[in-house]
Amino acid sequence: MVTGVGGYLPPGVVSNDDLAKIVDTSDAWITERTGIKVRHRAGEGEATSDLATQAARKALAAAHRRPDEVDLIIVATTTADLTFPATAAIVQRKLGAPVGIAFDVQAVCSGFVYALAVADGFVAKGSSKCALVIGAETMTRLMDWTDRGTCVLFGDGAGAVVLEPMDGQGTTGDRGILGFCLRTDGTKQDLLYVDGGPSTTGTVGHLRMHGNQVFKHAVINISEAVLAAAKEAGVSIDDVDWFIPHQANQRILDGVAKRVGITEDRVISTVAHHANTSAASIPLALAEGVEDGRVKPGQLLLMEAMGGGLTWGAVVVRL
Ligand code: ACO
Repeated sequence: MVTGVGGYLPPGVVSNDDLAKIVDTSDAWITERTGIKVRHRAGEGEATSDLATQAARKALAAAHRRPDEVDLIIVATTTADLTFPATAAIVQRKLGAPVGIAFDVQAVCSGFVYALAVADGFVAKGSSKCALVIGAETMTRLMDWTDRGTCVLFGDGAGAVVLEPMDGQGTTGDRGILGFCLRTDGTKQDLLYVDGGPSTTGTVGHLRMHGNQVFKHAVINISEAVLAAAKEAGVSIDDVDWFIPHQANQRILDGVAKRVGITEDRVISTVAHHANTSAASIPLALAEGVEDGRVKPGQLLLMEAMGGGLTWGAVVVRL
C-alpha cells in the first residue's frame, strides 16, 4: 500500500508571458489550448536526481520511514542525469539509502504508471519491504526553444510514493494497487520522440511532436486503458473517488473524463501551475491532492497516462 507521498517543484518559475518573449506565442493561446499558466524550471546544476531526492525525502517523512529502511528505488524518468548509472542509483547515494535494488524505468510520460506496476510486483512477492517509486524529470533540458509547438508545454519536477506490503482480504476494499493496464505501440514512434541518443547521434537531442495527432491518440488510448484497469481491479468508474491523470493538457484531461464518465469534481488537475512534467506529473498531482486534504487514506484512485513510444496505461490504487 502507499504509505507516503511527496512532491517537489524547483523554485524557478516560467510564465506564459516569459515564453512569449522568446517564441511567437501568447498567454491567451497557451491558456486556451492547454490550460497551462506557469511551469517550473530546474536551475543550473540542478539535476533530475536532485528533484527526485527532494520528493523522495518528503514521501519518506510522510510514511514515517528513514532512508536506511529503503530496499528498492525505481525512478521513472526520460531525462536521466547521465546515460548511466541509473538515476535511481544516484538517488540512492544522495538519500543515503543502503545497498538494495535501484533502477530506472523509461516509459516517458507513462513512466510512473509503469514503475508503480513494476514496484507492486516486488512488494507483493515480499522482495521489498519499503519501496520508493519516483517520477522525476527535467523536461526543459529536451526543449527546442525555437519550437513554439512544444516548448510551451513542458516543465520540471518530481513526485514520489512509498510502497509497503500489507495483508489484504483479496477484495476491492484492500489498500494498495488493485489493477493496472499497460500498453505500448512502437509503430507510433514518429508522433512523439527525441531526435538524439547515445547509440544514434551521440547527442541528447530535442523533443519532437505532432501535437494534434498525439492529442487524438491520447484521449482514445487513455480512455481504453482506464476502463481496462478498472475492469481488472473489479471496480466501476462510479466507485472511483479521485481520477489523477497525467497532467499534459487540460483538454486531454477533460476529453478522457467525459469519455469514461468521470465527473469534473473528481478530477485532480494541476497542469495550470506545473505544465507537463512527464513521469513526474501524476505523483505531483497526487501529492497536491493529499497535502490539501482532498485525497484521503482509504479512497479509490485511478491514475492514467500516455507518452512517447507510444506508451500508455492506467492503474487503480486504494490509498
Ligand atoms: N502559440 C501560438 N500558436 C501556436 C503555438 C503556440 N505555442 N503552437 C502551435 N501554434 C499554432 C500552430 O502553428 C498552428 O498554426 P497554423 O494554423 O497557422 O498552422 C495553430 O497553432 C494550430 O496548431 P495545432 O497543432 O493544430 O493546435 P492544437 O489545437 O492541436 O494545439 C497542442 C496544439 C496544444 C500541442 C495540442 O495538440 C496538444 O496538446 N497535443 C497533445 C500534446 C501533448 O500533450 N503531448 C505531450 C506528450 S503526450 C502526453 O503527455 C499525452
